[in-house]
Amino acid sequence: MKIVIAIDGYSGTGKSSTAKQVASRLSYTYIDSGAMYRAITYYLLTHNIDFQNEQELSKSLANCTLSFEGSSILVNNQNVDHEIRTMQVNQNVSQVSAISEVRSKLVEQQRKMGEQKGVVMDGRDIGTVVFPDAELKVFMTAEMDIRAERRRKELEKKGMNESLEVIKENLKERDRIDSSRKDSPLKMADDAKEIDTSRLTLNQQIDKIVEMAESIIYAS
Ligand code: DC
Repeated sequence: MKIVIAIDGYSGTGKSSTAKQVASRLSYTYIDSGAMYRAITYYLLTHNIDFQNEQELSKSLANCTLSFEGSSILVNNQNVDHEIRTMQVNQNVSQVSAISEVRSKLVEQQRKMGEQKGVVMDGRDIGTVVFPDAELKVFMTAEMDIRAERRRKELEKKGMNESLEVIKENLKERDRIDSSRKDSPLKMADDAKEIDTSRLTLNQQIDKIVEMAESIIYAS
């Protein structure tokens, strides 16, 4: 039997790297839902859309099609893997993802992608809203200093140097907006398993989730 694995948690807890490897170990499809919110944000920023203006926003959303090619994300068929990871997108994505119209468009697309099961999706509301019936839900946490250092290294690898202070402020601000928004705020599902990744290596995180998944898959 194939299952749906929902991985939620704060930014910089290692969700994406973990989810990608878990999917690869199980031969499942990996879907980065954060990349979808980032891609919409990038589109709105590059088209100078005032996203607080409902009419302008609706029109732009109708003209903006997201798709995946392997693990790459495309906006209207253009690969934006690199463009969606800039600080400019980091600084706007929480505001954009708090807008209900944006969320309903993306949630609908995410549910379609999970219909056949065999998916690992990471985000903020995957276990609570997108797949409330997911067979395995994981909620990842980590200490703030560790999250910021991980994010700094990730940006550095992509040739973007940013100070720890700026990154920490951005993470705190996103935590605040993501957790307090009205529509599907970030919170742990009641039936999720919490993993604190502060003292775990990437491989240990992956092993833990693959073990949990296999025990569900083989028990059914
Ligand atoms: O996982 P990430 O840092 O790439 O996500 C970017 C932003 O997208 C995050 O600040 C909140 C938003 N997001 C969301 O609201 N719901 C999701 N399922 C995934 C991401």
